[in-house]
Amino acid sequence: MERLAAARIVPVVEIEDAAQGVELARTLLAAGLPTMEVTLRTPAALDAIRAIRDEVPTFLVGAGTLLTTVQIDAAVAAGAQFGVAPGFTTTLSGAAAASGLPFVPGAVTASEMLAAAENGHTYLKFFPAELSGGAAALAALAPPLAALGIRFMPTGGIRPSNLASYLSLPSVFAIGGTWIAPRDQITNGQFTIIAETTRKAVAAASAFVA
Ligand code: 3PG
Repeated sequence: MERLAAARIVPVVEIEDAAQGVELARTLLAAGLPTMEVTLRTPAALDAIRAIRDEVPTFLVGAGTLLTTVQIDAAVAAGAQFGVAPGFTTTLSGAAAASGLPFVPGAVTASEMLAAAENGHTYLKFFPAELSGGAAALAALAPPLAALGIRFMPTGGIRPSNLASYLSLPSVFAIGGTWIAPRDQITNGQFTIIAETTRKAVAAASAFVA
């Protein structure tokens, strides 16, 4: 979690080919982002995680869109160093804890946040961020929950135009999103564009230290 907080921005990616995943990891690292969340939305996702661990060992690679305990076990077996889910259940939480996987479950209501905190989670994904009230909603939810030490990684609708509104919140440890490395750019091998987008995002985020 500390490494995610230090990165400030976590690219959320869909990878169709493991070798492209490795090239993407190298591109992000060189442009200043040492991490990404590989969503388990493509058949190649687990192979990509495995390949990135083998070939880019200093990179921090997580598995996202974890919906089942089977996926959590598969992500851990592939070498995922953290896991992210769109929501929170005690079943997923238990599976992540049993396997030792640092886990960021999703929560957008105070009740979901309390349930996650009761199960030991203080790093939460706020998803879908923009449709759930955006930075204004987080700013309202964070103070009453502050005593629990809950911190958020908003994702969903975050773009260069609104990232500052999230990163300026003390409760936000990192932001996530697909805008850094959209699926079509990865598939088309447009890594120069991805590097440029990354550098701009890193520069924008540098004003906001976690
Ligand atoms: C996620 O899984 O976090 C979202 O798909 C990211 O949403 P975005 O495409 O709006 O960045």
